[in-house]
Amino acid sequence: MKTREEILKRLLASDSYVSGEQLSEDLAVSRTSVWKHIKKLKEEGYEIESVTNKGYHIKKENHDLSESLLLLELRKFGISTVRIFQSIDSTNLEAKRFASKSEEQALFLAMEQTQGKGRRGKQWESPMDGGLYFSLLLRPDILPKDASMITLLAGFAVAKAIRQIFSMETGIKWPNDLVVSKKKICGILTEMSSEIDSVNYVVIGIGINLLQLDFPKEIGEIATSLARETAWEKGLLLAQRHTLLVEAIKVLHELIERFQEERNLEFIRETYNALCVNVGQQVRVIGAKNEFIGVGRGIDSSGELLVEKEDGTLEAISSGEVSVRGIYGYV
Ligand code: BTN
Repeated sequence: MKTREEILKRLLASDSYVSGEQLSEDLAVSRTSVWKHIKKLKEEGYEIESVTNKGYHIKKENHDLSESLLLLELRKFGISTVRIFQSIDSTNLEAKRFASKSEEQALFLAMEQTQGKGRRGKQWESPMDGGLYFSLLLRPDILPKDASMITLLAGFAVAKAIRQIFSMETGIKWPNDLVVSKKKICGILTEMSSEIDSVNYVVIGIGINLLQLDFPKEIGEIATSLARETAWEKGLLLAQRHTLLVEAIKVLHELIERFQEERNLEFIRETYNALCVNVGQQVRVIGAKNEFIGVGRGIDSSGELLVEKEDGTLEAISSGEVSVRGIYGYV
């Protein structure tokens, strides 16, 4: 574990002062090095008091996201870099820039995106603090043809985390929009770099609407946010971002591990379908060449959506090819 994370862990674990001398002895680094790490933690937003002859004391109710604290929890899931930006073009773009010069797995977060990207070349509105905008750079051992299944797992993981932390009925509109009260609360854009038979990396970009109360006219009818759906005040919502991120990444890590063994989604099919809002609903399947109406019957073990057509036959729909809409609105 890196020195700064260890210092943070010890400060958080202690109710009183932690001596600088003790830290330097235990971690086998100089007093100056301890002091420099403390300075960095302060720059990250931690309120750390230094008192001569006593040491350091951290104020615990800090609600800002912190690179060090996230790393402390995410290392065990194979994430070795965490970067938080006040403003960036797009966390997906940043993840890809990073991937071109590093072999690591990483997490990129931003408070605001100036060129947030949505699916199908759309823009993803990302105003300051409006949402939780993040991208995970992962290097799963999967085949390129299976990458869309990782997106499904990501949607499932975030849905589980929102349900658990906010006790909020969160559904999945296949393939991976998350839905609360029949409106979209989260979108996922996965991008991949691959060879013919192997994946170099995937970037899973996730945007969760957090504090946004007003949405642009085009999506006003179909979008919602955690602030709209809970009675929680702003500070409390912001304070939950850390837990939400860690929980979603933990669940996703476990699911990807399992997927790497099984190579299909049978292990999660039933639970995914229980959350899938298209199941039992009339849907309009809009392909490049044709369009039809049917009833959603849930995913199969390869993540395709089974749609029962009017003649009773089942058609498996693959996520890249079509868009699925409810016939009475978004869901
Ligand atoms: C969608 O269209 O539903 C997908 C939206 C994905 C938005 C997220 S926000 C974080 C990451 N960075 C981006 O530029 N896009 C994704």
